[in-house]
Amino acid sequence: MTSRSAGPGRAGVPGAPAGPPDRPDRPSLVVRPDELVSVDPGLGRLRAIPGSQMFEIRKALEVFAARHPDELVVDASQGDGGASLPGVAPEVLDMAHALQRSHGTAYDGPAGADLFRRAVAELYWRLDRATGWGPANVIACQGGRDALLRAYDAVQLLGHGRRGDLVVVSRVPWISYSWGPYAVGANVMLAPGEEHEAWQLRPEAVQACIEVADRELEGRRIAALVLTSPDNPTGRSMALERQIELTRATLESGVPYVILDWIYHQVTEDEPHDLNRFLLALEPALRERCIILDGITKSLGASNIRNAHLVASEAVVGFIASRASHGVIPSFHSQAVAIAAYRQGLRRAARGVLDPTNASRRLVRRFISDHRLRAVLGDGYYAFIDVGPSLDRAGLADSKALGTILAERRGLAIVPGGCFGPAGSRWIRFSYALEPTITQLACERLWQGLQELEHAARA
Ligand SMILES: Cc1ncc(COP(=O)(O)O)c(C=O)c1O
Repeated sequence: MTSRSAGPGRAGVPGAPAGPPDRPDRPSLVVRPDELVSVDPGLGRLRAIPGSQMFEIRKALEVFAARHPDELVVDASQGDGGASLPGVAPEVLDMAHALQRSHGTAYDGPAGADLFRRAVAELYWRLDRATGWGPANVIACQGGRDALLRAYDAVQLLGHGRRGDLVVVSRVPWISYSWGPYAVGANVMLAPGEEHEAWQLRPEAVQACIEVADRELEGRRIAALVLTSPDNPTGRSMALERQIELTRATLESGVPYVILDWIYHQVTEDEPHDLNRFLLALEPALRERCIILDGITKSLGASNIRNAHLVASEAVVGFIASRASHGVIPSFHSQAVAIAAYRQGLRRAARGVLDPTNASRRLVRRFISDHRLRAVLGDGYYAFIDVGPSLDRAGLADSKALGTILAERRGLAIVPGGCFGPAGSRWIRFSYALEPTITQLACERLWQGLQELEHAARA
């Protein structure tokens, strides 16, 4: 890993190293020539980052709504508890507003308000002193994607100190994992994974990424591994012990950072992840190289509130905070919503989202087993369902057409698995962040859609 220091200040440029005397008649640089960003002629040939394909699915749903104005449209495509479920409870919003009023509207620090950082460390995670971590290891972000972008930036610069290295994600990744790192100068590599194991990340897969990157990609290195549990889109959950093993193996093989995306971990009937247990299982030197993401988007259904946080070493937090001070300083109101929920106890505050989602998950599990479907169904919001056998009988290569049929003819939106990469193309992502009665309807329509697909092929 690289180390860098700010150096002594240069006249007129706080934090810059000393240089030749200032010549006001000449253009001058903020940094020394050897500190300039390298000229990269490659930017012009980068792939344009695609936007979400969701709009196409919405268009197909409009066809159904126009044909069947009296029938309910069922959106099982989005993991948005602020849209399909009640979202943040009014009393939490009221408490947040009261907090905002008493806190005032002055600037807070770029790492977030002290009140927030303390609430995260002490009320929410109850960080054990033995970890050596506390509020100084917390940084507020403007939602999960913002947190991830900052993390990708930090791992590149604080890790191998280079752009163009690789962020490794699992074989069928959430779409923003494919493009978020790319937007901030990192490439993305999909780890090998087996369909019958729900594309589980394994130490051998990370090792294979290290070797291929070095041998076949001009000596590129792995900047970070992203480990997500519960996962989007697959709904795969990984036990904490397995996450610890994989994190340890990855860091010991020379990958500088592991980013653990736990944004769905409260959305479970079991216990959420125990951060103390995770941190204490790793020696301090390894712990320093873990970045944990959590936030209220999924658990509270707070999609447009935009609050998430990272828990990381003080080096990572300091790096991100100084960049945030020149960019996005997180809004206090978003933090106030989280503080209000943490004061109430997150699981209690999130009942309006968690209870129906957990009930819906039980219902989907029964539906899957009754219809002998194959699916990945851990915790969180999603079931990833293998529709391959129906596609085969209908003579279709992937689930895209099924997505259109379900939306246009059955008024049900799901996401075709191919949106997340070729390995998922014979699967669909089905979100059950819905009231159980709606989930029941969604399951029935899915089954009807699959039957219709097969009959149409036979006719
Ligand atoms: C795996 C995962 N991580 C992080 C996020 C971040 O969400 P947001 O930026 O809406 O807070 C999402 C949202 O869908 C997600 O699915």
